[in-house]
Amino acid sequence: MDIGGKTAIVTGASRGIGPYIAKSLAKQGVNLIAVARSESGLKETQIDIENGGGVCHIHPYDLTEINALQGLIHDLWSLYGPIHVLVNNAGIEQYQFFDQIEKDEISSILKTNLRCPMELTRSILPKMIEQKDGHIVNIASLAGKKGLAYNSVYSASKAAVIMWSDGLRQEYWDSPIDISVICPGFISEAGMFYDGQIPPPPLLGASKPQKVADAVLKALKKGSCEIIVNQGPIRPLLAIGQLSWRIADMLTRWFGVPALNRKRISV
Ligand SMILES: NC(=O)c1ccc[n+]([C@@H]2O[C@H](COP(=O)([O-])OP(=O)(O)OC[C@H]3O[C@@H](n4cnc5c(N)ncnc54)[C@H](OP(=O)(O)O)[C@@H]3O)[C@@H](O)[C@H]2O)c1
Repeated sequence: MDIGGKTAIVTGASRGIGPYIAKSLAKQGVNLIAVARSESGLKETQIDIENGGGVCHIHPYDLTEINALQGLIHDLWSLYGPIHVLVNNAGIEQYQFFDQIEKDEISSILKTNLRCPMELTRSILPKMIEQKDGHIVNIASLAGKKGLAYNSVYSASKAAVIMWSDGLRQEYWDSPIDISVICPGFISEAGMFYDGQIPPPPLLGASKPQKVADAVLKALKKGSCEIIVNQGPIRPLLAIGQLSWRIADMLTRWFGVPALNRKRISV
């Protein structure tokens, strides 16, 4: 499907993977509305897109203001609508022992990673249904497929995003609305994992951020339901996890994931 001429909101477009997604969409002729808190980060994305001949409006906003998100969608639609694509990409994580994590940190992770995508989607869906054209792309994580030690709240938020997307897809299957979820593993060169400056476990490796942007494009063009972005094939391991949590936990330890996460706790 040709996506040129459509308009897309991309959250978290100020740094990390978001700018890759925004720029890739712009290269396909999609008009961008880039949202994040950092105005300077958004401006960098805007300049890159405009230098390539694309269109990018920026909207600095704190997406944890859940009660204000319906108003945000209303304002963006009035300014730049009709809007055809929402990429829920903004996200945060927090490495910590669960018994030491603060109550507010849990709220912050769940608000940013789960409540915000839900509220943005809830607010925009009626307009998309009315115009008979809409695609929601949620950026989840492989952390939502297998729980992560020392990052369990993040894992819980991403598992919820995957299942929420799954439910939505079935609910809207016979409507003009498409729902996709992207599950990246470790990402190199940019983003929250790269910023931690700890190399990925050698047996798992890391994918480039452009692969996530390519997955978003594929989802939009082909209407894919779920795309995993990982260095090697991971579905067989996930399938083993469905059969035996004991073997899956052992393999996860063998790959060195809990040890890596333990190193990422900032004390
Ligand atoms: N990097 C990886 O290895 C990896 C792997 C799997 C999944 N993911 C997922 O990919 C997505 C992007 O991650 P990333 O690696 O690019 O992370 P990142 O580099 O930390 O960037 C996160 C983005 O989210 C925005 N954001 C965070 N809190 C926000 C808030 N309250 N309001 C508005 N914007 C907010 C940030 O912008 P401001 O700070 O300017 O607000 C930034 O643009 C996330 O959903 C993440 O869970 C990443």
